[in-house]
Amino acid sequence: MVDYTNVISMKPKIYFPGTLYGSYEIARPILEPDVEIVVFPEKVLSAEQLAEVFHDVDGAIVTAFEKISRSLIEAAPRLRAISKFGVGIETIDLEAATEHGIPVTNCPGANALGVAEHTLALMFSLLRHVPRLDRMVRQGDWIKSKRFYGADFEGSTLGIIGIGNVGSLVAQRACALGMSVIAYDPYQSAETVARTGAKKVNSLDDLLPVADVVSLHATVTKESRGMLGETEFRKMKPTAYLINAARAALVDQDAMFRALKERWISGAAVDVLEPEPLPLDSPLLQLDNLIITPHHAGTTLRTRERTLKQASSNLIRMLSGDIPDIGLCNPAVRDRFTQK
Ligand SMILES: NC(=O)c1ccc[n+]([C@@H]2O[C@H](COP(=O)([O-])OP(=O)(O)OC[C@H]3O[C@@H](n4cnc5c(N)ncnc54)[C@H](O)[C@@H]3O)[C@@H](O)[C@H]2O)c1
Repeated sequence: MVDYTNVISMKPKIYFPGTLYGSYEIARPILEPDVEIVVFPEKVLSAEQLAEVFHDVDGAIVTAFEKISRSLIEAAPRLRAISKFGVGIETIDLEAATEHGIPVTNCPGANALGVAEHTLALMFSLLRHVPRLDRMVRQGDWIKSKRFYGADFEGSTLGIIGIGNVGSLVAQRACALGMSVIAYDPYQSAETVARTGAKKVNSLDDLLPVADVVSLHATVTKESRGMLGETEFRKMKPTAYLINAARAALVDQDAMFRALKERWISGAAVDVLEPEPLPLDSPLLQLDNLIITPHHAGTTLRTRERTLKQASSNLIRMLSGDIPDIGLCNPAVRDRFTQK
């Protein structure tokens, strides 16, 4: 365990997430020359434990496991920089951080390729029933498996919701598979979307009833939270599949459970759920038409390396008094930060 809390040092002290401890060697050369590290290997700290640690740190690298609430920020008198490992920042109270003059950065695009490729892995698994066929072979159902038809990619329609860094890479790759790709994203122009090979549609109503596969790649905002609920699932084809390698909060999970159990849709593959880790008694685990991976989409060697280097460099830069332009999530902090 690398817990240097007792070492007397003039270096700033930073929190490093225990869930990234397996990759610490990537961050070591960037962090150790300039900061002292506090890390609890392989541990997810409770809110109380996190508050205790944050009371005494100058900066933090955080993942989706660390909920950076207003009360946590207010219990951290020394905190002056937060660096999010990855893209999603819905777990960080940006308003509170800004009020306290704390810049928050993320790593736009750093993990996009890993997530896009995982999305394809989920799509192949779903359309060609890979996990179920594997189970059938092990149960001696080799011949019975011939009753199952895989779905063809070529000629199928993929509906992408949110076509930013990840969605664009998914669109390009799906086009190469011969899929027809449509995308709903009110914040991207038709020209930008067309450059990925996809065609922009203007509403979920233009996408849900025609897509054979619906893949979520939007960020979580007040507007997008719960954007797929019962009404939306009922608009999808009964033969359609849902993929969510973005965020659980985009989907009403109870509605998804019913949509799968009652076969309003054919199946789903998700990398993100609420809560994480998913408890072993979750009814979702009883569904035979749901594939689950453990928030693993960005976990390839190269993606992990790129993202961790970016998150570490962002933190060191902020602690040295400089705010990066790319990845700054609360630009309004600039005025307050320079006054510090
Ligand atoms: N599973 C994982 O391990 C993992 C890893 C990285 C990112 N993610 C998630 O994947 C998602 C996409 O990441 P990204 O890097 O492409 O982000 P991005 O910011 O590049 O793209 C997000 C897109 O969502 C669009 N969007 C915002 N609100 C929308 C709405 N209401 N309807 C439709 N589109 C909307 C934005 O315009 C943008 O184009 C995010 O939710 C991110 O948190 C998951």
